[in-house]
Amino acid sequence: MTLQTAIPPGLPAFDVASLCADLTRQGWSQQSLTDTALLTALRDEAEALWRADALHRAGIGRASDHELVREIRRDKTRWFDGASPAQRGWLDFAEDLRLDLNQRLALGLFSFEAHYAVYEPGGFYRKHLDSFRGARNRILSSVLYLNPGWKSRNGGLLRLYDEGDEHVITDIVPEFGTFAVFLSEEIPHEVTPALAPRFSIAGWHRCNDLGRAPALQAKVLPIAAA
Ligand code: OGA
Ligand code: MN
Repeated sequence: MTLQTAIPPGLPAFDVASLCADLTRQGWSQQSLTDTALLTALRDEAEALWRADALHRAGIGRASDHELVREIRRDKTRWFDGASPAQRGWLDFAEDLRLDLNQRLALGLFSFEAHYAVYEPGGFYRKHLDSFRGARNRILSSVLYLNPGWKSRNGGLLRLYDEGDEHVITDIVPEFGTFAVFLSEEIPHEVTPALAPRFSIAGWHRCNDLGRAPALQAKVLPIAAA
C-alpha cells in the first residue's frame, strides 16, 4: 500500500554548487533540503509502509546466509516502484539532480534507484562500500533522512571513513531534511546502532551502460565478464 494523497508542487531545494564543490574536493557532502510537503509525504509513506509490515529485511548482494547478513546489516527496506505521488516526487528530484550533476561534473550518471529504509531499535549497518572499486556501477550514493527532532542519544549516525578506511571523516545525524551524498566507490561508511526507529531513503545514481563511458571500459570489463 502507498499513500495516494496529492502533493503540492515544488521540489526541495539546496545549494547544488556547494554539493559539487564538496564532491570534487572530498568525495562527500552534507546538505539540508528546504522543507517541502514532499518531504513530509515521504516520511508519512515510509512510516505507513513500516506499520503495514511492507518493509522487509534487507540483504547483501547475492548472499543467502541470513545469519551472516544479520551480522552485517539489520535494516528493513522497500524499493521504490513509483506508485505514489511522494515516490514520483523524489524520483523527479533525483532526475533533476542527475541532469545537473552530469552538466556540472560530467559524471555520466545514467539511472537512479532508491529504497525506503527503517532501522528499528538495535538496527545497524557495518562498515561497507556501496560499489566495488572498478565496477563503475553505482557512482553516487545519497541518503535523505526523515526523522524530525532526532535525539543524539538515539545513535543511528551515518559514519563516513576516509578512502584509506582508517579515519572517521564525519558523523551525519539522520535529522529530517538532511541529505548526505558521497561517491559510492570511494567512501566506506556505516550506520551506528539506532535506538529509535530511524527512517530514510537511500538512493544510487548509476552509470550502468558500458557504451556510454568508453574511457571506463578497461576498468569495467574484467569484472563485468565475471
Ligand atoms: C546503505 C547505507 C546509510 C544510512 O543503505 O547502503 O549505507 O545512513 N545507508 O542509512
Ligand atoms: Mn551504504
